[in-house]
Amino acid sequence: MKKPAHQSTSVWMDTSKLPLESSLTDDINTDVCIVGAGIAGMSTAYLLAREGKAVVVLDGGPIGGGMTARTTAHLTNALDDRYFEIERLHGKKGARLAAASHAAAIDAIEAIVKREAIRCEFTRLDGYLFVPPRESTKVLDDELAAVHRAGLTDIEKVARAPWNSFDTGPALRFPRQAQFHPLKYLSGLAKAVKANGGRIYTQTHATSIAGGKQARILTRHGVVTAGSVVVATNTPVNDLIAIHTKQASYQTYVIGARVPKDSVERALYWDTLDPYHYVRIETVGNRGAPYDLLIVGGEDHKTGQADDGASRFAALEKWTRRRFPMTVSIDYRWSGEVMEPVDGIAFIGRNPLDAKNVYVATGDSGNGMTHGTIAGLLITDLILKRKNAWAPLYDPSRITLRALPTFIRENLNVAAQYTDVVLAGVMRSLEQISPGSGAVVARRLHKVAAYRDPKGTIHERSAVCPHLGGIVSWNTLENTWDCPCHGSRFNAAGKVIQGPANSDLLEIDGN
Ligand SMILES: Cc1cc2nc3c(=O)[nH]c(=O)nc-3n(C[C@H](O)[C@H](O)[C@H](O)COP(=O)(O)OP(=O)(O)OC[C@H]3O[C@@H](n4cnc5c(N)ncnc54)[C@H](O)[C@@H]3O)c2cc1C
Ligand code: FES
Repeated sequence: MKKPAHQSTSVWMDTSKLPLESSLTDDINTDVCIVGAGIAGMSTAYLLAREGKAVVVLDGGPIGGGMTARTTAHLTNALDDRYFEIERLHGKKGARLAAASHAAAIDAIEAIVKREAIRCEFTRLDGYLFVPPRESTKVLDDELAAVHRAGLTDIEKVARAPWNSFDTGPALRFPRQAQFHPLKYLSGLAKAVKANGGRIYTQTHATSIAGGKQARILTRHGVVTAGSVVVATNTPVNDLIAIHTKQASYQTYVIGARVPKDSVERALYWDTLDPYHYVRIETVGNRGAPYDLLIVGGEDHKTGQADDGASRFAALEKWTRRRFPMTVSIDYRWSGEVMEPVDGIAFIGRNPLDAKNVYVATGDSGNGMTHGTIAGLLITDLILKRKNAWAPLYDPSRITLRALPTFIRENLNVAAQYTDVVLAGVMRSLEQISPGSGAVVARRLHKVAAYRDPKGTIHERSAVCPHLGGIVSWNTLENTWDCPCHGSRFNAAGKVIQGPANSDLLEIDGN
């Protein structure tokens, strides 16, 4: 897959080729229009097309060019937020539904892979949850009791995770988890969508999305009218406030460490640190001498609120080498964004305060592979007017009173972003910006996002985020402008690459 200019490359981008699709050139009509060709959008398109619905998928970039290209693709029912927390927030029934839905999502992926003969390295394996060194293991006991109450009775406590080179201490073993190559999976889904009559248009940015009797999705080259529209843009680009106060965007970091083949047992691994480490193994270089890549992630921070990618990678490398001294080299370094819902469960269903035929899928946290598949299963049922027991749990308009402290904390953090920048005086002069770098500079009353390209030419855009007026900050690692409020991101030239903003940073008068 072609990597976006000056941004980091994941192992998946390096080892897959996605089909090229054409852009939309005309006005068209369909039963369902899906905006976003990541795992959520493509799963929804596939399942609806299989049910005989006419589907159209639009993506502003290529298929799988968003966070699905940057994931680590653990397929798991071990939820990030722990089952005892899900049970506290959503009750015993909610925890049971969450457990069942994630297990069903893994089963659904397995069935699709088999039915469509998708060669995406889908493998069932165990997962292990353990605590960081010297920390109490009570959290494991609490979690074990909670997962059993949630119906996952085959999870057990073991003496340690199966690493020869490091003793993790006691761990919970989650059987029948899985992993795959996410972009090869999307490539298979795309083929199957088209085989079922679906149409996919890439490089086709939806500039406006409106529900109603007929939903209307505007693009620069044509209008799609549809019976329903599914906004699967990772974070909804059609929603100004309702959902964005209930989830927070975090940047997370990943390294790919080369280790001798079979030197680490193939499984999924997570610790309970906050932010936690997540580990899996991918065999690379099949045709030459194959070796294993330990894919290790963690070191999360709120999007746009730190610019220290190099030290986050260094911390991941130190953590990895300590546990896996056989590490030969660090072959990959990349980062991506995750949306953390305040109550630990994704938002999947009818878009709050909108027309009845507008659906969203967001708030994936680190479980976006299964949440994206749950979105496909659930939204298909909603559109086909079938009952689905998961619907109330994932309802985007829910208010979880017990999550109020997190809701308040995250929104106070957002509010602080509007004042911090003004008070902190972080602005520098243009002269201080080195080639290939950017900074926000003050010019009279305006804040300018100034980028100096590698040849030395300065490019300027307004630093005001078109979503709700946050001031973007420069991300040195990814060469992007990141908004610290709700996680919108723009490339160095100011072009929007991640919502909730749905338009570019404005040009500066006189440019
Ligand atoms: C480093 C990292 C590690 C992770 N690890 C895991 C893991 O191990 N397991 C797991 O389950 N989850 C994991 N996640 C989370 C998971 O990867 C994501 O939640 C998931 O990929 C999101 O899929 P999506 O389809 O919702 O969004 P995306 O894959 O981002 O797709 C959204 C698409 O919408 C398009 N788009 C946006 N706006 C528009 C518009 N206006 N018009 C047209 N198209 C538009 C974009 O171009 C993009 O292609 C991880 C995430 C990261 C970043
Ligand atoms: S993302 Fe909301 S203000 Fe920028």
